[in-house]
Amino acid sequence: MTVAPHFQFLNGSLHAERVPLADLAREYGTPLYVYSRQALHDAWEAYRTAARDRDVLVCYGMKANSNLAVLNEFKKLGSGFDIVSGGELARVLAIGGDPSRIVFSGVGKQAWEMKNALEAGVKCFNVESEAELLRLSQVAHAMGKVAPVSLRVNPDVDAQTHPYISTGLKENKFGIAIETALAVYQRAAALPGLEIVGVDCHIGSQITEVSPYIDALGKLIALIEELAGAGIHLKHLDLGGGIGIRYTDETLLSPTTLLDKVFQELDRHGLGHLQIVLEPGRSLVGNAGVLLTTVEYLKHSEAKNFAIVDAAMNDLIRPTLYDAWHSVKPVNPRERNAGTPSYDIVGPICESGDWLARNRKLALQQGDLLAIMSAGAYAFTMASQYNTRPRAAEVMVDGGQAHVVRPRETLESLFSAETTLP
Ligand code: LLP
Repeated sequence: MTVAPHFQFLNGSLHAERVPLADLAREYGTPLYVYSRQALHDAWEAYRTAARDRDVLVCYGMKANSNLAVLNEFKKLGSGFDIVSGGELARVLAIGGDPSRIVFSGVGKQAWEMKNALEAGVKCFNVESEAELLRLSQVAHAMGKVAPVSLRVNPDVDAQTHPYISTGLKENKFGIAIETALAVYQRAAALPGLEIVGVDCHIGSQITEVSPYIDALGKLIALIEELAGAGIHLKHLDLGGGIGIRYTDETLLSPTTLLDKVFQELDRHGLGHLQIVLEPGRSLVGNAGVLLTTVEYLKHSEAKNFAIVDAAMNDLIRPTLYDAWHSVKPVNPRERNAGTPSYDIVGPICESGDWLARNRKLALQQGDLLAIMSAGAYAFTMASQYNTRPRAAEVMVDGGQAHVVRPRETLESLFSAETTLP
């Protein structure tokens, strides 16, 4: 099974769409993030098809990759956006995104962020606590505005994914416990400056089974019925993001499988009129990007072999943070044989945790180019400048053309805003 169909070998050399990755490395240097525009469109198409003729609003979970070029492609396709900060709001506004298609998630919204979002006119605030509800009511009331709200409830289901990216269990910091949700909704209904419009949940990320979603949906439906009994009627149901991608050989949950189940459950409960909101991040961008890197040195020893590359944990933190697997492909593969060694692919940063992949059987030589696959999501957006390393450039390929969508940071820019004491 192919991990990323838009990154294929043509004439023995790995390409992004029709552009050889080796050309991009030569032109723009490494490390380099390379995205495929077509891959974004195809990932979007899977959601569009899955929506059938129902009222489904897909709000791209932009924390996965918030480059303006990526946002702009999704905007043109009709996407809304799921934001988690005033910074993300500013990015959506910068590309002329429609605020009425923005949902504002996040557990720690500050007053200025609420203010900016109210001024812009977002579709909904996904509120995660009673304290946040109070603050939002005050901010909106003081502005003479009405804030549309959903409560993010915590349905206490196990998303069966890595504990760091599982969010729907009782012990997580996210959401309002479902048992108390009715009382908090009633509180919200009584507060000035708020209008209840929906209910929200997000149970985790890299989910490959439909059952956790359906368990969560069942609990939300029970809540929606309870709310209706109390005279609180909702317009939409937001199921969050979380659909997984194939990093290696994962079986995939398709948007169609998920949504067909959701439609069926809602119809069965007479709730087919509710708008469905989804907040997919990874599944829209994860396999639309690779991280290109050059082998600087090979280091062979009795215990281990290392390929020391010019990308590092500051460019892609997922392996060391989540023990995540990213496939590694030589851009121009060499013949492998029985004696081909296994390498740990490591970066130059002064940390033992600075590794990108472990135990990969690869025929390598110094100077070889490697593509770290599935680096479209949570790669650049989680990048840092640790070790005073400039963040790498980002390029988007469109057919046979490459566009730099963010240049490599310069060394000077890394500290030009800093000052020394007088
Ligand atoms: N909505 C909310 C409220 C979220 O917290 C998230 C992700 C999403 C939507 C999008 O989820 P997705 O469709 O991408 O699974 N850095 C981790 C993933 C963290 C996800 C955080 N929340 C990783 O690299 O695996």
